[in-house]
Amino acid sequence: MDLGFEREAVAARTTAIVEDHLQREAPLLPILHDIQSEFGHIPEAALRLISEMLNLSRAEVHGVMSFYHDFRREPAGRHVLKICRAEACQSMGGEALADGLRAALGLDWHETTADGRLTLEPVYCLGLCSCAPAAMLDNALYGRLDEATLRDVVAEAGR
Ligand code: FES
Repeated sequence: MDLGFEREAVAARTTAIVEDHLQREAPLLPILHDIQSEFGHIPEAALRLISEMLNLSRAEVHGVMSFYHDFRREPAGRHVLKICRAEACQSMGGEALADGLRAALGLDWHETTADGRLTLEPVYCLGLCSCAPAAMLDNALYGRLDEATLRDVVAEAGR
């Protein structure tokens, strides 16, 4: 896609989304949700425009984005694996499991494999605490994970 056209398209769509929410009492979160749902992430050009239109600093908008783990600055890979890092999963070895996977894939949290196949995200409770440790690949939930089953889940993302 032509980059000039892409920038214009982001600006036009972002402007329309912000205008749709301007009358709300706290418009920033719904705007960010709509932008991410439109583009799959929050493009830099959109972030700049949102801060201008809401009369906020970029740091304020960025602060809200980084507080909520679901907002992305870059497009995600074709699959997103969310590994639970909340208490029940931690107490059942979830952190060690995640550390092993991160080392095996050479990824840190929020990073994507070089082939664009998989993005690794932390999540803080998937409602599967009694089946900890838990993870979610795209919309599919997995519980009682160990190294082997987590490897199988990651292999699913290769199909
Ligand atoms: S703490 Fe991991 S699913 Fe609830």
